[in-house]
Parts: sequence; structure tokens; C-alpha cells
Amino acid sequence: MTDKRNATESEHARRVRDMFAGIASRYDLLNHLLSGNTDKRWRRLVAKKLQAALSIKGARALDVACGTGDLSLALAKASGAQIIGTDFCRPMLEIAARKAGTNVSPEIPFVEGDALKLPFTDESFDAVTIAFGLRNLSSVETGLKELFRVLKQGGRAAILEFSRPVVPGFRSLFQLYFTRVLPKIGGVISGSPGAYEYLPDSVSRFPDQKRLAAMMADVGFIEVEYKNLTGGIAALHLGMRPRS
Ligand SMILES: C[S@@+](CC[C@H](N)C(=O)[O-])C[C@H]1O[C@@H](n2cnc3c(N)ncnc32)[C@H](O)[C@@H]1O
Repeated sequence: MTDKRNATESEHARRVRDMFAGIASRYDLLNHLLSGNTDKRWRRLVAKKLQAALSIKGARALDVACGTGDLSLALAKASGAQIIGTDFCRPMLEIAARKAGTNVSPEIPFVEGDALKLPFTDESFDAVTIAFGLRNLSSVETGLKELFRVLKQGGRAAILEFSRPVVPGFRSLFQLYFTRVLPKIGGVISGSPGAYEYLPDSVSRFPDQKRLAAMMADVGFIEVEYKNLTGGIAALHLGMRPRS
């Protein structure tokens, strides 16, 4: 990798980390408010879709870019499996650790780590998840390769991310809300207008449902499928690491 590309990537990472550090204390409130609590339903669906992988005896799952830990908690509550959350933004992780406390069993370790270079060995998890994290990475492809690398053979990956609404009229309406209304409300409540302008911007640059499914297949996932959520505002992509 060239020095210039390296510098651009670390600049991107620094900006994203600082941005989430700046909104960490308001992140949950805004998530639930701006989505009308729909985000909670989406995360529960991830846990449901991974139920089989999480019920294997001694199952371990990694929640990448876990932020304030809502998906890690949903996975733990739904399964009783050992969940580990990882993120590169300490203030987000601190909130996650406070929320989880000792209320879940087994306890969830929240580990500082970069999704582009996960601090875990190859083939060590029965399931991996990433919710609203992939679009923030400087390379979606490298992020997918890392998810694949840490997954055991036969393990399952679940990617929850904003996507492209499928019905044209609804798409235009949602675009209006997402690009005009949401940045204003998010900016005022979080005190960081930039973060909520970045949100629709990062979604518009992210691959749509079909493209992301194709990228997953390209890095080696099989049985790739996706489900549109709330008309395609978000999508849940699932895939498996093949057994050799
Ligand atoms: C929109 S939040 C999503 C948090 C959580 N998964 C959820 O569902 O609410 C995105 C998270 O991705 C994290 N993130 C972005 N780039 C990352 C990277 N390269 N490595 C680790 N975490 C990253 C941010 O720190 C932030 O906590």
C-alpha cells in the first residue's frame, strides 16, 4: 500500500472516530428518536436470524463496530452465547460497557479494535455481525475480508446497514426526510451538525443491496441473501463461510 493511501485511510479513520466520540452521549437517544425505535426491531431480527449459529454449544460471536453496544446486547439477550463487542471509538465503548454492566450473562467484553484489522485470530467466531458500521470504513472490501477471516468455517455473518428504499415514491419521500429533516434534528440534538450531514452522505456512497451481496460473494461468502427492512431503508445481508 502506498504512503499516500495509508495517510488518506488514517485521516478517514481519525475523522470517523472523532465524529462518533463527539456524539457518543447522544447517539442512542438520536438513533431511537430518528428511527421511531425501528432500529431496535431491526437489531432483534439480526439476533433471530443468527439463532442457529448462536445456539451451538460454547458459541462465540463478534459484534464489529459495536458502538454503544445495542446489537451486542440484543444478541446476548436472545441467545446466552458469549458475545464480544469491538469498536475503535473509546467513548462509544465506555457507554456500551456501562449499559451491559453485569446484567448479561456471560458478560460482554468490549474491546478496542479496528474493523479493518481486527485484533482476533483467524476462524475464531461462530457468528460475526456489523450494524451501521460497514459504510463508515475506508474500505468496505477490507472490512468484509476481516469479517470472513475471523469467522469459523460454517460460521454466519450478518450485516445490517442503511440501504436503498425499493419503492420509487417512498424512496423520494424518505430521501427528503433523510437529507433535509434528519440532519437538522440530529445536528441540533447532538450539537454536531456535521455528523448528521455525514450520515446521508455516507449512505449515498454505500453499495446498494445487490452490489453488497455481490461483494460478499467476491470475498468468499456463500449462501448470501438479503432482506429489505422497512421498504429497503435498511437491509440485512447474511452469508456463511464455507467449510473446506
Ligand atoms: C453508526 S455507529 C453503529 C454502532 C452500533 N453498531 C449500532 O448498531 O448502533 C458506527 C460505529 O462504527 C465505528 N467504527 C467506524 N469505523 C470503524 C473502524 N474502522 N473500526 C472499528 N469501529 C469503527 C464507530 O466508532 C461507531 O461506533
